[in-house]
Parts: sequence; structure tokens; C-alpha cells
Amino acid sequence: MSKEEGSAVAGAFWANSPVIAITSSWEGKVNGQIAVTAVTSSIVHEIPRLLVGIWKGNYTHEFITNSKAFTVHLLRRDQIKLVKNFGFYTGRERKKFENLDYELGVTGSPVLLDAHSYAECRVINAMDGGDMTAFLVSVVEGKLYDAGPWMTLNDFYTDAPPEWIAEYGEKLSRSVSLSMENIHNINYSSWEP
Ligand SMILES: Cc1cc2nc3c(=O)[nH]c(=O)nc-3n(C[C@H](O)[C@H](O)[C@H](O)COP(=O)(O)O)c2cc1C
Repeated sequence: MSKEEGSAVAGAFWANSPVIAITSSWEGKVNGQIAVTAVTSSIVHEIPRLLVGIWKGNYTHEFITNSKAFTVHLLRRDQIKLVKNFGFYTGRERKKFENLDYELGVTGSPVLLDAHSYAECRVINAMDGGDMTAFLVSVVEGKLYDAGPWMTLNDFYTDAPPEWIAEYGEKLSRSVSLSMENIHNINYSSWEP
């Protein structure tokens, strides 16, 4: 029994999780990021829900808290460039949709036309986690473009060139330092729809 072993068990929820592209729109602007912190959270087939964790430092967090909507995309394993585009840079500094085909869906969030699949989501509740927010969302619409497998975090680390992994590793350490400052600073007031 040790905290390290507990951490190893928690790691299982990273390694095999799907790598998703989350896109959102606010005041005529579009943005998106990569995440792996999404899990199913409804046992009612007709009422699909997800629980999605988004770090507060991400520009996309602002879009989601304001628009209360986003689109979750599963990616094909060959879409690793999309992971770099959405996950290595912030939309505060570069436009991420310049060379991408997309349209705005029923929630107003961007829907990528080239992906494994997508689910459009509306936020129905949110919980502060200090450095991140856990959004409970209702899936309102979706489409499967592809019947094959989707990209997992393991696939990303297997397929990404070493220099990409190093670049992302540096970005991740900066994010972890920021998280350490805020992770215990939880606001317990409830979310207002
Ligand atoms: C493989 C990978 C996994 C990631 N997982 C998450 C995650 O689970 N949650 C999160 O908030 N950010 C995650 N990120 C980081 C964001 O995608 C990244 O900080 C992004 O640049 C934020 O962009 P934005 O500032 O335009 O919103 C991940 C990035 C990569 C490359």
C-alpha cells in the first residue's frame, strides 16, 4: 500500500483514454484544445452525459464557461497533427481553425468535418477543482464518421516524434507548476445555470 501505487492505478485512467479535440465558440470566435479527461456519466442510454475536466489556464475554459457548450471529437490515430495544432499552443496566440474544415453545430460550437466522430454537448452543471473545472454535460447531437478505432493517449505517445514529446513535456511542466499553486484552492459555491 502506497501513494505511488495509488498514483499508478489513477494512471490507468490516462493511458487508455481517448484523445479528444474539444471545440467551443464565443462572441463570434472559435477555439479548441486537446483533452483526455472525459468519461461517461449516465447509465440512461437515451440521456447520454459526459464528465469533462478542463484546466482553467486554457483559453478554451473561457469559451466553455461563457457559451456553456462545446463539441467533443474522437480522433483517428492518423490525426496526430491535429493534436499538435489544438494541444501544444494556446488560441490566445494563434488561430487554430485557419486550415480546418468545420461548421457550427446546433449548440453553436464548431464541428470538425474531419474526425473519427463527434458529440455536441451542453453544460448542465460544473464543479470547481481548484486548477480545473469538471463540467457535467448533456450530449445533444453527434455523428460517427468512422467505424474504426480512435486515438488513445498511448497511441499519441507511441506515434509522436520525440521532439514533439519533448515540446509537450515542457508545456506540461509549466502547466503542472501553475496547477500546484491553485489545486487546493477550491470554491465550493454551486454553479449557476
Ligand atoms: C496529449 C494531450 C493531452 C491533453 N490533455 C488535457 C486534458 O485532459 N485537459 C486539459 O484541460 N488540457 C489537456 N491538454 C492541454 C491542452 O490541450 C493545451 O493546454 C492547449 O494548448 C490549450 O489550448 P487553449 O489555451 O487554446 O485552450 C492536453 C494536451 C495534449 C497534447
